Amino acid sequence: MRIFLNHRFVPEQKAVVSVLDHGFLYGDGVFETLRAYDGCLFRIDEHLSRLKESAQGLEITVPHPFPRLRRLLYQSLSVNHLHNAMIRICISRGVGPIGLDPALCRKPTLVIVPKTFNGYPVSQYRRGLNLSVVSVRRTPRQSVDPRIKSMNFLNNILAKIQAKQNHAEEGLMLSLDGHLAEGSISNLFLVKDRRLYTPAAELGILEGITRQVVIELAGKNRIPLHETRLRPSDLYKADECFLTNTSMEIMPVTQADGKRIGHGKPGPITRFLHEAYRDRVRWECRT
Ligand code: PDD
Repeated sequence: MRIFLNHRFVPEQKAVVSVLDHGFLYGDGVFETLRAYDGCLFRIDEHLSRLKESAQGLEITVPHPFPRLRRLLYQSLSVNHLHNAMIRICISRGVGPIGLDPALCRKPTLVIVPKTFNGYPVSQYRRGLNLSVVSVRRTPRQSVDPRIKSMNFLNNILAKIQAKQNHAEEGLMLSLDGHLAEGSISNLFLVKDRRLYTPAAELGILEGITRQVVIELAGKNRIPLHETRLRPSDLYKADECFLTNTSMEIMPVTQADGKRIGHGKPGPITRFLHEAYRDRVRWECRT
């Protein structure tokens, strides 16, 4: 695989970053993960805007203007002959002496890493995931704001560790005041009485691009949607539950903390929205 590092594409073995890069020393940087469908990067502009906002949140300068970043992302597909792929774009503070002052680093490091990806197995969508509400709380907005998609993912990694200990595939974090917030790599939706519910952005979550697509699809299909405050009991009593992110799209959850969600199978609204999501991808990626 050829990886873009700062100015050029290099073979994977040569894609190395200094140990004095503050991304390595402090997790000081931002990233985005995009999905390519048949050579088309879905919602690329939204991902680039979020990258810019994350960078602004940490006062990191995005090294190139959008049109150039767009070109580089598409080039990382073409130079690797990829059509269906995931691409991770990272911008770290850059190389500098040890110390927290951002002024120690003069130039941000830019890395674009693609990998081939054909989606999750169909069996996974049929079975649905097992979710665990973990004791690790989501960092509040007043701390490391979850809207910043930073390279410091320790909050999420701690949630993932606990989820694994609980034999679950995803860990769901609560906000400090005990409301459902989000998964370690995903946003949450519940269905109750044919209405959709999702944790409100102000609770402190990453406002996922897939979440936004689901909100749009709910509006178009007249499914009432509430961005609100939810408790773990709402999850356990839900008719349906699903998670969203760029790689898994809309993933049903059929079990949470040992309790069956709804009938323990992916529900009709989840399946409908997933179909609608895939239609949306096809529509936006038509050539
Ligand atoms: N990010 N919430 C969190 C905490 C996430 O890490 C992610 C995805 C999402 C979903 O965002 P989107 O729909 O834009 O993909 C929500 C994983 C780590 C990633 O990008 O690889």
